[in-house]
Amino acid sequence: MFTRSLVAALLIAAPAMAAESPHFGQPITDADIAAWAIDIAPDGRGLPAGRGTAVQGEAIYVEKCAVCHGFDGVGTPADALAGGQGTLGTAKAIKTVGSFWPYAPIIFDYTRRAMPLNNPQTLTNDEVYALTAYILKLNGLVGAKEVMNAKSLPRVKMPNRDGFTPIYPGNLK
Ligand code: HEC
Repeated sequence: MFTRSLVAALLIAAPAMAAESPHFGQPITDADIAAWAIDIAPDGRGLPAGRGTAVQGEAIYVEKCAVCHGFDGVGTPADALAGGQGTLGTAKAIKTVGSFWPYAPIIFDYTRRAMPLNNPQTLTNDEVYALTAYILKLNGLVGAKEVMNAKSLPRVKMPNRDGFTPIYPGNLK
């Protein structure tokens, strides 16, 4: 209940509270933004330094990913990461990273940002490159010892690279 004396007490306390305010409205600094600006463009812009191969990625995958994505990325209980290539145009489309995702750098972005589901953003950049290489290897897109880094990853052509139609006002029918 807002009694008259409570309101008076609040008015008296207000200057003290202002001094301890949570600083709402404080300008955000570049350092604040940098911690959140970890997105990577489809062409690989934003990829950090680091490297990894599928051989290195397999060991990490077995330890941190297989429990949810299955050995060899076949899925269960979570999404399949491999397989399904050539099924998208059929009645039984199987969408996996290998069959559906159009750009390889996005695998790095997603894995670094969101996986492992129970402990996201704990992987080093080298680990994420290695895991990305392993997922690509499971899909037959890179070799076991091929190094994935900021230069090589954007050059991997995903099978569904041209399967998406950009939406411009002109091609909306
Ligand atoms: C605790 C379970 C769990 C673990 C561990 C886990 N994931 Fe996932 N992962 C999921 C779930 C659930 C999804 C689907 C999330 C969604 O659609 O929002 C997913 C989605 C993904 C996708 C996107 C799949 C798609 O087709 O959309 C990738 C790539 C992936 N995980 C990679 C990894 C990697 C690499 C690791 C190990 C570092 C890992 N995950 C560990 C549960 C897990």
